[in-house]
Amino acid sequence: MPRRPVNYDEALVPDYVLPDPLVCDDGSPVTTPHVWREKRRPEILHLFEEHVYGRAPGAPEIVSIATLCDGAVLHGTARRRELRVTFRGDRGVGSFDMLLYTPAHATKPSPAFLGLNFFGNQTVQFDPSIALSPRQTRDVASLGIIDGHATEASRGASAHRWAVREIIGHGYALATVHCADFDPDYDDGFQNGLHRLYDPPDPADRTSDAWATIAAWAWGLSRALDVLVSLPEIDANRAAAMGHSRLGKTALWAGACDERFAMAISNDSGSGGAAIFRRCFGETIGLGTDMVPYWYCSRFLDYCDDEDALPIDQHELIALMAPRPVYVASAEEDLWADPRGEFLSALNAGPVYRLLGADGLPVTEMPGLDEPVVGTVGYHVRTGDHDVTDYDWERFLDFADRHLTR
Ligand code: GCU
Repeated sequence: MPRRPVNYDEALVPDYVLPDPLVCDDGSPVTTPHVWREKRRPEILHLFEEHVYGRAPGAPEIVSIATLCDGAVLHGTARRRELRVTFRGDRGVGSFDMLLYTPAHATKPSPAFLGLNFFGNQTVQFDPSIALSPRQTRDVASLGIIDGHATEASRGASAHRWAVREIIGHGYALATVHCADFDPDYDDGFQNGLHRLYDPPDPADRTSDAWATIAAWAWGLSRALDVLVSLPEIDANRAAAMGHSRLGKTALWAGACDERFAMAISNDSGSGGAAIFRRCFGETIGLGTDMVPYWYCSRFLDYCDDEDALPIDQHELIALMAPRPVYVASAEEDLWADPRGEFLSALNAGPVYRLLGADGLPVTEMPGLDEPVVGTVGYHVRTGDHDVTDYDWERFLDFADRHLTR
């Protein structure tokens, strides 16, 4: 199949009208926080479940939490643990391994960042005590992932994306889990990961709104939060869901579904994350689902080349966070993720924030490079390409200092 064309020309963005988050499905306007809360917010959440990510099951029973490693790191400023969490799904038992850094000298429970990682906890820091992930993934030789498995060479391979020292220095905990502990990032016909534990064995019995991979990952973030809630050294009322790229889409969806997340941070999340679908700039629904149809519920495929027919757009995903703080980060060269479209989502969530007595973004025009704009919604576009950099983390930490530790 020939690849669909990709548009990177602003002049070729089609005219579009965004769905209004403050008009109910029956056409009535949302004029009070009460109507938003009781009627419109559930409608929008439901539309995203039905048309984009699919519907996830409820929380499972946690059967056990075992400590795999526990020790002092970063010159004694942090405690590092790996916890194996076992839970009971509808059709069997599953487990995930959570890598957790907590400030060693905190005098009260610490707020936390919680995010999934792409290739195993061992990639997050060079630390032989962290177990090599046994999960099967894509091959990435440059990260030490060979024949679908983590090798010793993968230790610390993504450490530049996790500013652990700075996070601890600001008084936060960091928790992370390999996304493949919840669902492998390849098309397995929903036979593995959480789908094996919850879904009908025959894929033919899956409905058009059955949860897919992003929803499974987001559900996993909530299960990691369940664990943080049970730890006295963590203040789980001040937990931020954070993620990069496909895992940034996941962080936003987790924050929308699970209002226990006090904050969400999207880094270069692009299509299916912060970017407005209707702009058809960079990755479109067709381009994305040609590559990774299994990230989304099957109903979503109906919107390939028909973005205008979608009953929602991604400013409403941001609005589902309201009035909780949300930060959207873009990178100048990451045109595939449509930086302007990511900004416009953050901007167009504003009316919902204002209805709820908060502010959205403090600007109406896209800011210049490396000029963060911060209200209850924050945004920056930094120089450089698709990645998580120290600059990004400095902004996220400032934002969290402002909203979570005030
Ligand atoms: C691909 C995909 C994006 C995704 C990215 C990533 O580029 O098209 O939607 O965000 O991978 O996760 O790195």
